[in-house]
Amino acid sequence: MSAPLRVGLIGLGTVGQAVLRVLARNGDEIARRCGRRVVVTHAAMRDPHRVRDCDLAGITVGTDPHAVAGADVDAVVELIGGISPARELILAALGRGRAVVTANKALLAEHGNQISQAARAAGAHLAYEAAVGGGIPIIKVLREGLAANSIDSLAGIINGTSNYILTQMAARGQSFADALADAQKLGYAEADPTFDVEGVDAAHKLAILASIAFGVPLNFAAVAREGIGQVTPQDIQLAQELGYCIKPLGLAKRSAEGIQMWVHPTLVPAAHPLARTDGALNAIRVHGDAVGQIVCAGRGAGGEATASAVIADLVDVARMQGAAPRHLVPDLGFQPGALRELPVVPAGNVASAYYLRLRVADEPGVLRAITSILAELDISIEAILQKEPREHEDATLAIITSEIADARARGALERMQALPFVRPGASRLRVEHFE
Ligand code: HSE
Repeated sequence: MSAPLRVGLIGLGTVGQAVLRVLARNGDEIARRCGRRVVVTHAAMRDPHRVRDCDLAGITVGTDPHAVAGADVDAVVELIGGISPARELILAALGRGRAVVTANKALLAEHGNQISQAARAAGAHLAYEAAVGGGIPIIKVLREGLAANSIDSLAGIINGTSNYILTQMAARGQSFADALADAQKLGYAEADPTFDVEGVDAAHKLAILASIAFGVPLNFAAVAREGIGQVTPQDIQLAQELGYCIKPLGLAKRSAEGIQMWVHPTLVPAAHPLARTDGALNAIRVHGDAVGQIVCAGRGAGGEATASAVIADLVDVARMQGAAPRHLVPDLGFQPGALRELPVVPAGNVASAYYLRLRVADEPGVLRAITSILAELDISIEAILQKEPREHEDATLAIITSEIADARARGALERMQALPFVRPGASRLRVEHFE
């Protein structure tokens, strides 16, 4: 058997400790797969006394991450997240020719073009399976398994925390705040949970997926997003009655006008596999011209699921170490010189079916006034549901429109809200049929 792959681990939190546990448990099996052992020799964390669930014997543990980035190892694993100092550490390790494995979606989404270039310049291996979808090997699926395809769209539930929150609200009637607190306790949430609930984390992941699916440079700034904070228990209930589930969806599509990328709470048909992806699970649907639709689902967050992806990258590194850079799968799935910029479809032009929910006074002529606005704007109604008002209360109206541009949906809702009998606080959510 060849010499072990020596690994330096930066960050020994939930995921870092899980990496050590899984390597200890499955080390023999992993060695049989890659022909050598994968051994963590150095690790850094802020407070080494906080390590509880794994064995640090034989590992040089310190508090200085730069010491690990500069240590005599074959691969550096970055698990501290955030932009700085992660970026400097990764660039330093790559600069010294070390392979780098990272789970850092924010860093890749925002600075991945630069990091990929640095890896290339150094001829070093850069791997990031754990950055998207936790344990789901979606990076490998897109970069390798679907390499024959022209991919036209991908859509996914790629933030476990917001999926967990919406699932708990639907199934248990749990409040938004309680469900978020539970997700944090279970280790799903980001250090700053606004990244989860406002769609930033999913937008980071979507930017990475879109880049490797379409062969375009990373462009996080072009991802439009809306958080799940606007979704009410009533919306969840009405959506169910109309045959849909509300999911935190990220979608990237390529068409003749360019690419669109967005993260929005979205109504998904109840029978679609994405609608059945509950709790902290993630699922990603990819459509390729040759393969058709595939859906990959699994645990999108949590220690061992994410460690599964980190270690899969280390296995690739162990197998490929010493190979000429041209034999490595390109970081972004396409040869660097073959990445092509595509125009981004302006947010107002992005077309979708819409769910509009209004609270209206219980008076004659209200429905006619609302449907007249839609008729005047040439927007077709695909479904409509009115809930009978309780005594002296307002009525609730939910409408699903035909596919229309975002700007037209906004305009229609603004006109409806200007009517005297429409109360404040309407909802406007996308509906995706995956056709
Ligand atoms: N905060 C992320 C999530 C963790 O909830 O999905 C995995 O990236």
